[in-house]
Amino acid sequence: MSTNAALQQAFDHCSALLTQYQAYWQLMPFACQQLPWDNPALAEKLRSLPEQQLAGIDQDPLLQQQHFASFFSDLFKLNSYLAPETNPLVDQALQQVPFWLANGIGGRKLEQIGAFARQLPASSLPMLEWCAGKGHLGRLLAWQFKRPVTSIEWQQQLCVDGSALAGQFDIPQRFVHADVLTAEGSAVLAAKQQVLALHACGQLHIQLLQQAVATGCEQLHIVPCCYHLITAQYYQPLSAEARQHDLTLSQHDLKLAVQGQVTAGARVEKLRHTEVHWRLAYQALRADLTGDTAYRPLSSVAKHWFSGDFADFCRWAAGQHQLVLPVKPDWQHYLQLGASHAALVRRIELVRHLFRRPLELWLVLDRALYLEQHGYQVKLGAFCDYQVTPRNLLLQATRQ
Ligand SMILES: C[S@@+](CC[C@H](N)C(=O)[O-])C[C@H]1O[C@@H](n2cnc3c(N)ncnc32)[C@H](O)[C@@H]1O
Repeated sequence: MSTNAALQQAFDHCSALLTQYQAYWQLMPFACQQLPWDNPALAEKLRSLPEQQLAGIDQDPLLQQQHFASFFSDLFKLNSYLAPETNPLVDQALQQVPFWLANGIGGRKLEQIGAFARQLPASSLPMLEWCAGKGHLGRLLAWQFKRPVTSIEWQQQLCVDGSALAGQFDIPQRFVHADVLTAEGSAVLAAKQQVLALHACGQLHIQLLQQAVATGCEQLHIVPCCYHLITAQYYQPLSAEARQHDLTLSQHDLKLAVQGQVTAGARVEKLRHTEVHWRLAYQALRADLTGDTAYRPLSSVAKHWFSGDFADFCRWAAGQHQLVLPVKPDWQHYLQLGASHAALVRRIELVRHLFRRPLELWLVLDRALYLEQHGYQVKLGAFCDYQVTPRNLLLQATRQ
């Protein structure tokens, strides 16, 4: 999608859907004791879905559509805005990356880098890689396009490792060890630059957008991620349109946009299952002990807790809430209550997750419209398959 009219139309479509169905996504599933919607047909549908099918539906856009299109008309038409447009000329010109250069880069990351490269226009501008990690993207592109790249990264060790890799293969890649959120970090931006950012988290890519606009950078190619990692408590829309349609998004709401879990392995999936179960079981115990049935969140905790013992987890959680536990609570009873609450929460989340893509698209379109308002020609599309990375939206902007 590349014209102003198309971006506007997609943004209006997302805004309308998110507003119309707000009650289905802007909520805290853990705090619900029953389905929070007066929609008997949907309740019946959710009851009829067997437990073993829920995760599969949740992770497959086609199955989501198959099961829920009749309840949320228009929701599934959004994907038509995102058909990737590959440029066959660029495709042919790219060389196969030799094994020695790709060594140490994970298979998925390599696929993402290849797909990213295929979307870049021919250019002679020097490249800047924002939040580079070890600079795999920059290193491969510097080799591919025979142009120098500067990679900025905050973790010193990653800069050291990345520099060593570049030096080993004589690649013109220079690392700048700096925090992009400071003036020192932004100082690497220049007008005559092709700026690249693959999976830069919320505030990091917002900073890039604002500073690149202020600097007048010629080209931007940004794949955003982690929209919820921002400094403000609530999302501050960037474009004039989004300010008018302000959805008042908390960090909890924003997190919905990144809840696609295609890349999670079976072990991680099982731990997450246990985490939800135990947190809800503890909630039932706490409600019994205090008489307070309102949900009280717990801070996040290392995943290894959930391969341990439920009683230990409850002691930690009770400590968080300054609660003294009885000597011998009926753990099994609370685990059972937790399991049935978790089954309800999974069904609420199944519906809520239908809105993660519209929300993500709304957020990226806010960025696209912001760049347009500052004199850029903007293009937005999916640069690779959702299975390669769920964060597959690429925003490309050229200064007019
Ligand atoms: C999700 S990783 C992406 C790395 C790489 N672009 C990729 O796609 O593999 C985000 C990177 O941003 C870096 N980072 C986080 N905060 C930063 C900051 N304030 N300034 C510079 N880099 C930062 C992290 O250290 C991390 O390497």
